Amino acid sequence: MSIERLTERLDALGAIGDTGGDGNSRLALTSEDRAGRDLVVTWMRDLDLDITVDGIGNVIAVQPGFDPLVDPVMTGSHIDTVRTGGRYDGNLGVLAGLEVIETVQATGLDLDRPLAVGFFTNEEGARFAPDMLGSLVFAGGMQLEDALDISDVDGVTIGDELRRIGYAGIGACPARPPHAFVELHIEQGPVLEAEGVNVGAVTSVQGISWQELTIVGQSNHAGTTPMSMRHDAAYAAAAITTFVRDLAIRMGVPQVGTVGVTDLHPDLVNVVAATARMTVDLRNTDSQMLGDAEARLARFVSELADREGVTITSRRLARFEPVVFHDRVISLIEAAAETRGRSVRRMPSGAGHDAQMLARICPTAMIFVPSVGGISHNPAEHTAAADLHIGTEVLLDVMVELTRTRFDHRSGAERT
Ligand code: HGY
Ligand code: MN
Ligand code: MN
Repeated sequence: MSIERLTERLDALGAIGDTGGDGNSRLALTSEDRAGRDLVVTWMRDLDLDITVDGIGNVIAVQPGFDPLVDPVMTGSHIDTVRTGGRYDGNLGVLAGLEVIETVQATGLDLDRPLAVGFFTNEEGARFAPDMLGSLVFAGGMQLEDALDISDVDGVTIGDELRRIGYAGIGACPARPPHAFVELHIEQGPVLEAEGVNVGAVTSVQGISWQELTIVGQSNHAGTTPMSMRHDAAYAAAAITTFVRDLAIRMGVPQVGTVGVTDLHPDLVNVVAATARMTVDLRNTDSQMLGDAEARLARFVSELADREGVTITSRRLARFEPVVFHDRVISLIEAAAETRGRSVRRMPSGAGHDAQMLARICPTAMIFVPSVGGISHNPAEHTAAADLHIGTEVLLDVMVELTRTRFDHRSGAERT
């Protein structure tokens, strides 16, 4: 295993869509994303892996030379980023997976099952909603045709962009489930660093609710219009923004709420805003509490619209229930860390991940490594090389162990 090679590749991939500092921006299916895809596919080819591009542009590379009926043990993540992305979010999981396969090939380890590594389309959901879209389609959670029709704010569809960048593949969606899936990812939060723990054995992913609110008021003159006569879309957006924050604080941990987008029109200094388009991201580990947060927001929005004489419509962008990972895989992660003399703790994930979609079709869990300062979705995102090494070693051990692990998949029938 070469952590030098891994960090060189993280830097080479991070240089695509470089935003200065350690930042990179490769929104899904942009030309920057294509360049990142092409680079990773080159590294996959260099390992002589069998590469498949599926209908939603997921790229899966499998070790050749095995009985095609033997399902692989798979790892992977995403290489699309948010606009203020760091160079580890997603990228680490894909490149560490390559490092694991390269290491296994170099040692000539004889496995019962092939190893596979992939990257999934549009994990971030920053350009097209919902997030984790490629893995959702891979797992059969959304019809391919419906996903291809999804468009960004400029009306450009996923299908058009996949064709434009040359990643409209022919691989089947949904895919044949892998034997098991394990994803290495940075924690993106403060827990491991604060506790001085090397590895997170991730037990679950919290529920996610994304919606877009469109507020229609009335543009008017900023100087001549009495306050009592205004139907101010900007004020309504601001009121909703403070409500979302106050609601999360009132509900307490683990509830979180975020307004990430607010677009005003006409967005001019001397015009009362006619319209506002905004997004609300609500999350909670508890499904009931998440539903309660959504209902309280909906009530507030309805009362606000009446009071301010504006209309407010909501469009759902994403809604995923909390996901619990497979206990056997979680235990393998704990055992692998402990065998290497590393400290490990079970923990939930605050962020969404492709693994939460793979968990629908095969035994799945995740490995976290610490994020410096708990920072992510920010160019300052950083994980120490020593922690990259620890995470990649645990990934290697867990993947090898999973090739020897038999799961009682569905009706007790042992799948090969
Ligand atoms: O939004 C998320 O949790 C992930 O970054 N897509
Ligand atoms: Mn990620
Ligand atoms: Mn992310």
